[in-house]
Amino acid sequence: MQLFYAILFFISFLLLSLMCLLFKRGNLKDKRLPPGSMGWPYIGETLKLYTQNPNTFFSTRQKGYGDIFKTHILGCPCVMISSPEAAKIVLVSQANLFKPTYPPSKEMMIGPEAIFFHQGDYHSRLKKLVQASFLPSAIRGSVSEIEKIVLRLVSSWENTTINTLNEMKKFAFDVAIISAFGGRSDLETEGIKHLYNCLEKGYNSMPLDLPGTPFRKAKKARKLLNERIKKMIKRRRESQKKGGGLLGVLLESKDHKFNNLSDSQVADNIIGVIFAAHDTTASVLTWILKYLHDNKEVLEAVTREQEKIRWAVKEENRGLRWDDTRRMPLTNRVIQETLRAASVLSFTFREAVQDVELQGYLIPKGWKVLPLFRSIHHCADFFPQPEKFDPSRFEVPPRPNTFLPFGNGVHSCPGSELAKLEILILLHHLTTMYRWEVVGNEDGIQYGPFPVPKKGLPLKITARSKKTISAKIN
Ligand code: HEM
Repeated sequence: MQLFYAILFFISFLLLSLMCLLFKRGNLKDKRLPPGSMGWPYIGETLKLYTQNPNTFFSTRQKGYGDIFKTHILGCPCVMISSPEAAKIVLVSQANLFKPTYPPSKEMMIGPEAIFFHQGDYHSRLKKLVQASFLPSAIRGSVSEIEKIVLRLVSSWENTTINTLNEMKKFAFDVAIISAFGGRSDLETEGIKHLYNCLEKGYNSMPLDLPGTPFRKAKKARKLLNERIKKMIKRRRESQKKGGGLLGVLLESKDHKFNNLSDSQVADNIIGVIFAAHDTTASVLTWILKYLHDNKEVLEAVTREQEKIRWAVKEENRGLRWDDTRRMPLTNRVIQETLRAASVLSFTFREAVQDVELQGYLIPKGWKVLPLFRSIHHCADFFPQPEKFDPSRFEVPPRPNTFLPFGNGVHSCPGSELAKLEILILLHHLTTMYRWEVVGNEDGIQYGPFPVPKKGLPLKITARSKKTISAKIN
């Protein structure tokens, strides 16, 4: 009899669970897809997105359909979202329902075992390691090394016209290299730089795997890069000391069964972090110089803030220190305002891992979901007069979930403190010693991959007159 009741209970439980599942699914299917147009068969709205300014593409649809709308890009149905609440659901509170997604060619170029492409245990293990390497306590010792890179670079600019984006890329790359490998740049890292440049060209090109194409060359460079980094890994594994930088941290790591990360896991994540640290920071720096050039009163105020620090540093006859970089509130607000106004990462990609209900709409499994950071940063409800460059708006903290230059949730940027630190150090020397004028009158934006001023912002750099400097300091 007892067995009969047990079986009866088990069957009822199964039926009830099945009914709940069907009811939930039926409920979801009753939900509407978000409003919006899927465009032409297969090509969808891809041509529209790529033949106009992406911001116009987003804003016209947002005006017509609201904060959540559907579209069809590069063969994929997508939902674009520009409300802070919906972005929070996708990136934070229900992040497990939305996995990061990248085109297969990009995944192959960076390396499939890099942090960006993963969820769950492997992702959180890596995240802890990467985060630990870029915490303020871990990077405070790099100030003098970064300062050396800055001084070398800015002195080479004096009385020349620079392509700002290219120069900032060199800077961000050198900083990324010392953070990845620890210590200073040497012959080995020079070789890595060259291969990485080839890789980058192919990464940003059409994925055409034919002889002579940048993509094919990049594939070769990726293979060589892997071999180089694996040789470094082998050498460090054999020595007692695993060395500094992120590489040292990854090599020391053991999981709960005392297993190390494999060579490919380490190599893919080193390449991945260099990749994430490089173009992003360089594009932000390029915009900062443009905004400071166009807003002279802000430039003068930043210069005054930096001159005070320079004076103290000179008095004590020393280099810049971590504590100095903590006494730059206005320069920090300029960085925040640039991150908002330029929004170099205009959006990110996720994919629904199952049918999901989002604010009353259905997002079917497999659809891409794009939180539009730029639209949130340019919404007048959160940032009045959003087109105005106004660092003072950050004198009060922005409303929660409205300021997302470094993303939000489990995949948010672990390198934000390093990015801000290198920008502060460069601005310290540039504002106190130099002035810059835009060359030419190109005022547009180029996209490749991030939005930056046309032609990489050509700037003529001149030294500030010694008189001005000493008059201001005394
Ligand atoms: C101003 C410069 C930077 C900006 C604007 C930026 C922005 C971002 C954003 C928005 C994300 C989240 C992407 C998403 O949710 O899909 C991200 C992720 C990431 N960033 Fe940055 N980043 C910058 C600099 C750096 C630097 C300097 C490093 C390394 C030291 C770095 C390493 C990473 C990594 C490893 C991830 C992936 C994290 C994960 O998937 O868990 N970034 N970054």
